[in-house]
Amino acid sequence: MIRMIVAASALLLAGCQAATAPAPKTDSAAAPAIAPILDTPDAVDVHSYAKPLEARVTHLALDLGVDFTAKRIGGTATLDIAAKPGATSIILDDKGLEIEKIATAEGAPLTYKVGAIDENLGAPLEIAIGTARKIVITYKSAADAGALQWLSPAQTAGKKQPYLFSQGQAIENRTWIPTQDSPGIRQTWEAKIRVAQPLTAVMSAPKVGDPVTEGDARTFSFKMDRPVAPYLIAIGVGDLAFKSLGPRTGVWTEPSMLDKAAAELADTEKMVAAAEALYGPYQWGRYDLLVLPPSFPFGGMENPTLTFLTPTFIAGDKSNNSLIAHELAHSWSGNLATNATWSDFWLNEGMTTYATTRIVEAVYGPKVAAQQISLGHDAMRKAVEENGGVAGADTRLRIDLKGRNPDEGLTDIAYEKGAAFLRTIEIAVGRERFDAWLKGWFARHMFQPVTTSLFLADIRQHLVKGDAALESRLMLDAWVDQPGIPTSLAPADPTIFAEVDSAVTTFAAGTMPDTAMWGRWTTDERLRFLTRIDRKQPLDRLEALGRQFGLARAGNNELRFAFLDLAVANRLDPAVPALEDFLMTQGRRKYVRPLLTALAEDPSWGRPIALRIYPRARPLYHPVTTRDIDKLLGWAGAEIDLKRA
Ligand code: BES
Ligand code: ZN
Repeated sequence: MIRMIVAASALLLAGCQAATAPAPKTDSAAAPAIAPILDTPDAVDVHSYAKPLEARVTHLALDLGVDFTAKRIGGTATLDIAAKPGATSIILDDKGLEIEKIATAEGAPLTYKVGAIDENLGAPLEIAIGTARKIVITYKSAADAGALQWLSPAQTAGKKQPYLFSQGQAIENRTWIPTQDSPGIRQTWEAKIRVAQPLTAVMSAPKVGDPVTEGDARTFSFKMDRPVAPYLIAIGVGDLAFKSLGPRTGVWTEPSMLDKAAAELADTEKMVAAAEALYGPYQWGRYDLLVLPPSFPFGGMENPTLTFLTPTFIAGDKSNNSLIAHELAHSWSGNLATNATWSDFWLNEGMTTYATTRIVEAVYGPKVAAQQISLGHDAMRKAVEENGGVAGADTRLRIDLKGRNPDEGLTDIAYEKGAAFLRTIEIAVGRERFDAWLKGWFARHMFQPVTTSLFLADIRQHLVKGDAALESRLMLDAWVDQPGIPTSLAPADPTIFAEVDSAVTTFAAGTMPDTAMWGRWTTDERLRFLTRIDRKQPLDRLEALGRQFGLARAGNNELRFAFLDLAVANRLDPAVPALEDFLMTQGRRKYVRPLLTALAEDPSWGRPIALRIYPRARPLYHPVTTRDIDKLLGWAGAEIDLKRA
């Protein structure tokens, strides 16, 4: 028994430490060591049923087949467990999994119980493990798994093969993986994935060997030997091809997309170098990207070793490349040092947004970076307005998400207020000192969960170092726990968009931007223009603007969205066909949700348009996109309504 505990503790520790960190001391009599932060009150994750201090999963081995006909992934998950001495049960997160049996590694059946179901969280899966510290769960993914999107051949670029991909963040992976789905509980993992020929499976982990062929199936193997938060486990299956971009970078996508995607991503290797200069060595081996079909609900997702990307970022001129910088930056902020709970989400996204502009500065120059900071400040102010104004509780960086879906924390408060906070600290202490702290933060906390309290303590210990004047200038606590924007905010450069801003003024007086000038403007400059002009526009002027610069069908989707957003706000009828095309051909939630929301909230003009488009567009959208829009448009009971409309 004692020997078993020692083994379990060693395993657990291996799960928390960087590969390079010295082996920590173990005490076999004590409770198993965990990331120490998990034993603090603000590391308690209200979005997971797991009790990691009692028993936690340290390693996960998946052996799964992908069934496109049944739209299920099924097989076994073998879990290694580290538990407190004497612990006889473990609690996992389960959202609709179809469990066939649970047994010990030797095959002895174990009893288990699925508790009451919560709409957001799913249910606790409590397993009576007795003394077993390795268990095997035979199961299938949930029938309506929120993490998975199954695409028919018609919904792919190639039109011949089906496609499957997953999106785990924030709490969706519990719909296809039986584990403790909490960002503070890091696990190493491996997987064997069986798919029909000629499909290829990719995952967010290094491949192991070549696929093994058996009849008309192939099995792909993967192994992640660094402990990761379980929301970072991801899969893609389809007709996929690979092209190298550099010594440690490359892109996967459907064959017909490969050249276009690779051209857009040509700066990736340079970006990895810039990120390393800022953050310290890249810890994950390869950095590859998977460009998904247009239904991918996000711009990007930082799945380790394999960032997932929307194809809508491809503009032909790399003008949306800050998205790559962003997902890459998560290889440190998010994937190395990970928000312990979704209340600390700003630590993932704010730090990443800050780093994004630093990488952009290194690769594309200081002017582009300064402009993106300025756009970020506008987005931050808009987010304050949309989240209850300067007194709104959700304008705090550390927010209370209990009883809500963590998705509700996905606002530009986390991204842009978070980034503005870090930039404010940078300006106050100087770049050299700030950068030294930043590298130190990752060196100290790599492969660990981090909380906002830990961040504050770390910055006080390693950067402020008791300097009372600096402490009061920074207003650290106000940034984190007060609503609105603290007065210490380092301003954006007010002259960085000088030419655009004067064009905004002349436009308000009735003059179109000069065609040559518009032609010279970068995408960010054009975006500044579209987001700074009055939201209410005379119809003829808005239409002329759209026509003159081809905005409703702009090749850059950020621009296209910004214009269509104005078009909806002004009920611009001539833009409706382009709006319909946009909603029917991509499912990026950031574009689809605001447009459909604005339409739905305009009962006489917009709602009929939304009700006409949505039934046809909906099959393209991922469950995390339809979830909100279904509610908005009353989808479930509304099918009859829709038929009448
Ligand atoms: N990790 C996020 C996406 C995410 C957050 C998915 C929370 C689910 C829950 C990703 O890194 C991200 O921020 N994507 C942005 C990119 C943008 C800010 C450059 C997106 O998808 O728009
Ligand atoms: Zn992000």
